[in-house]
Amino acid sequence: MESKGHVSVVIVGATGDLARKYLWQGFFQLYGEQVSSGHSFSFYGAALSEPEKGNLAMSEILKGLACSADVAPERCALLKDQFLKLSQYRQLQTAEHYAALSAEIREQLKQEGLVEAGRLFYLSVPPFSYADIAEKINSSCRPDPEVWLRVVLEKPFGHDYESALQLSKDLKKFLKEEEMYRIDHYLGKQAVTQILPFRHENRKLLDPIWNKHHIERVEIVMKETVDAKGRTHFYNQYGVIRDVIQNHLTEILTHVAMEIPVNRSSSEEILKSKLKLFGSLQRLAKGSAVIGQYQAYNSEVTVELNKTTDYISITPTFAGVAVYIENSQWDGIPFILTSGKALDERVSYVRVLFRNQVFCTQNIVSVHCKPKQIIFHIGQGNLKYPAFLVSKNLFKPQLPLSGWKEVTEYTNVSLFGQPLSGYYVYTPVAQMDPYAVLISHIFQAKRDSFVSAENLLASWNFWTPLLDGISHEYPRAYPGGVDNTNLLDFELQGNEVSFVHEAVVLLSPVQGG
Ligand code: BG6
Repeated sequence: MESKGHVSVVIVGATGDLARKYLWQGFFQLYGEQVSSGHSFSFYGAALSEPEKGNLAMSEILKGLACSADVAPERCALLKDQFLKLSQYRQLQTAEHYAALSAEIREQLKQEGLVEAGRLFYLSVPPFSYADIAEKINSSCRPDPEVWLRVVLEKPFGHDYESALQLSKDLKKFLKEEEMYRIDHYLGKQAVTQILPFRHENRKLLDPIWNKHHIERVEIVMKETVDAKGRTHFYNQYGVIRDVIQNHLTEILTHVAMEIPVNRSSSEEILKSKLKLFGSLQRLAKGSAVIGQYQAYNSEVTVELNKTTDYISITPTFAGVAVYIENSQWDGIPFILTSGKALDERVSYVRVLFRNQVFCTQNIVSVHCKPKQIIFHIGQGNLKYPAFLVSKNLFKPQLPLSGWKEVTEYTNVSLFGQPLSGYYVYTPVAQMDPYAVLISHIFQAKRDSFVSAENLLASWNFWTPLLDGISHEYPRAYPGGVDNTNLLDFELQGNEVSFVHEAVVLLSPVQGG
């Protein structure tokens, strides 16, 4: 088969947690998909460790690679064998190390008569090292101008607008915007990747009702049962809004609310349309958010960060925020973004609730209560799998998405008071890990699956005033675990939100005032 060109993949931070859990597996999957299409690859795992130690750690990880269920065992064994032969460890610390890697890539291409197609660097390292690594890639490991260079970056991209701007300026000195792929792994979740296609495929039915006249509210929810134990060093500086709301939930909001550009296959147009939506978000006031903290959090922080016993952290581990969009389509409709740690269940979804039965929005489940809703079920919860659900009393989606199938046999599951049989349900034929999805999108240069600098700054510009406004606020304490069922429910009065339950108490009222 004619070669489409050689791609060198360099995972920097190759033996860290993210690489171990997801990245090697994602690149193995990419290899399996692309090798038969004529691409050739080399994979370099890089870290600061000496070769001997690094090699050992890396080969342990590679032993655990697995194929997806549709790959026959013999083919899987062959692919794995080939992948291992193509994967090597390199110590990458100094500019000389980067230059040596570049020379090695060139030499291999020459010896094997290959044409270079691209170099992909995945930086799975803390952001404070991004600029330094970018500088070394630029000075010592950049391919020839006709060969693509893609550098993948993981969040957090800053802490607020100013720090994100600074990071962006620092990176711009060494990399072009089109060379940077900022990952938000929620953009690789299957249900999230399909929100725009779903809206587009069903536009004839949806367009007339996708607006303030027909929709009552939109809930974007990410509940977690895990707590922050073991990572309070990071978490205590960030809190739930910076950790998941500014990025994951806001990205999802844009997919639900943005205009779908005429040229839907243009990443540039999609990113532009998102930017326009950011421009329409109404500025948040302090009262637009409620914040909470699970009770055990403070003692975890005290131990892990070696604080004295009188230390009080006011980092929120729960937040509910009511976001409004000022345009003719969405004016006055709350988009309620909620997330928290140590909650009663693990689930993430978008619920678009149509107007008609106000009771159905208030957890009053009655046989007569048949809300009309569309749910983009991102994962876990009762359902376990990603799915789109459309109330049968709304419409039947006309064009199922490619790679998705209709579910017609339901287990005994109900969602928001309705049995599953009350919905048209669609789910992916095969479930995929979001990192595998995004790695394949990096390869395809599908840039709308990543966060552009402009959109990142627009998002921080939106969230920073609220973060500043609540930076001295004491969150409310909640018990954590199963005791949280409905405890964090809040009420909306205009743009102001407040907790419903008195059991949620203000942390440290004496000091907090
Ligand atoms: C990460 C956050 O971005 O997303 C974590 O930093 C969070 O705090 C995680 O737990 C959740 O991702 P997922 O894919 O497990 O829902």
